[in-house]
Amino acid sequence: MCVCVCVYIYIYMYMYIYVLYMYYNTCYIIIHFDDSAVASKQPVTKRHRKLLLKSSLTASSASAGGEEEQQLKLARTQESRRRLLSEVCTKYHPGVTEQPVSQRQVSRVYVEDRSQLLYCEVPKAGCSNWKRVLMVLGGSATSTRDIPHDAAHYANHLRRLESYDRAGIAERLRSYTKVLFVREPFERLVSAFRDKFESPNSYYHPVFGRPIISRYRTNATRTALRTGAGVTFREFVQYLLDVHRPVGMDIHWEPVSQLCNPCLLSYNFIGKFESLEEEANFLLQSVGAPRNLTFPAFKDRNPLAERTSSIITQKYFSQLNATERQKAFDFYYMDYLMFNYPKPFKDLH
Ligand SMILES: *[C@@H]1O[C@H](CO)[C@@H](O)[C@H](O)[C@H]1NC(C)=O
Ligand SMILES: *[C@@H]1O[C@H](CO)[C@@H](O)[C@H](O)[C@H]1NC(C)=O
Ligand SMILES: *[C@@H]1O[C@H](CO)[C@@H](O)[C@H](O)[C@H]1NC(C)=O
Repeated sequence: MCVCVCVYIYIYMYMYIYVLYMYYNTCYIIIHFDDSAVASKQPVTKRHRKLLLKSSLTASSASAGGEEEQQLKLARTQESRRRLLSEVCTKYHPGVTEQPVSQRQVSRVYVEDRSQLLYCEVPKAGCSNWKRVLMVLGGSATSTRDIPHDAAHYANHLRRLESYDRAGIAERLRSYTKVLFVREPFERLVSAFRDKFESPNSYYHPVFGRPIISRYRTNATRTALRTGAGVTFREFVQYLLDVHRPVGMDIHWEPVSQLCNPCLLSYNFIGKFESLEEEANFLLQSVGAPRNLTFPAFKDRNPLAERTSSIITQKYFSQLNATERQKAFDFYYMDYLMFNYPKPFKDLH
């Protein structure tokens, strides 16, 4: 009899503790999914709480236990990415969040007012598809499928945050969900190089190709000098690392730490290209996007070219010597640090 009761009590207590544990866990995620553990002083707004509650509700009501676990995992991943970024920012840019935000500093950030999203555009990290999703969220398109690449970039009806006045910028930065998607920096660099220099391009060949060939290639042919076609990866990296570049920077290879000002803007969501679809869909669900809107899987720039992988990246970097590789790593060092990507080559320091 006694044994029976004891077992009963034991089971009961165990369940109680388990429920508490789950409850605590969920709350923990709710609190942290959103307010950047980052050095930001901004309050967690009502909207944010709602958003997070919703995301955890979807998680706990999911029929499959696997899905629920997956959501918790994704939420925890966000929390640890924000924490790491905050630590790096505190160390390398102390006090930066106390400074006012200028229009120039938010020039890469797109606004979607209906779902209250701010998205910082990082080229070569899924940005065309993000623009398509923002267009659907904002109501200027009904499906991501119908939006051609050029329309996503040049006729997207999306407003940049810099186009608002100071108060409009500040209010959106305070209350909207701020989103950033990053990619392994060397892979992003190789992807940009392949995209812009390995297939015909009426802008990048004349504007970047010509000065690069004329500066870094000895005995360049007249055709190469005239067309700017055929830049090698090594020449491209020489340009990138040159303090006296013959032509300026470009958003396709500018470090994310400069493009998106992650220390200043305290992003709520830091996604990675390496798990783009899963993380993007998690975010869409969390902000209450329509159920039938999922992140598109298509690659539309040079669809026949193989997507830049780490093996392809290694192949391109093998054209550089150890000093050049180290300098390229130094160039993207803050991106590696802020977004926790491991050193891509063993001999780097
Ligand atoms: C999603 O559903 C809404 C209404 O239920 C519809 O108007 C819209 O076209 C659908 N979108 C897609 C991408 O199927
Ligand atoms: C450039 O061309 C000249 C004449 O053909 C040749 O002597 C020289 O070695 C070439 N330089 C390089 C770096 O290929
Ligand atoms: C690597 O290449 C650069 C030119 O980009 C050259 O100046 C340097 O001496 C080379 N370093 C080594 C270790 O070969």
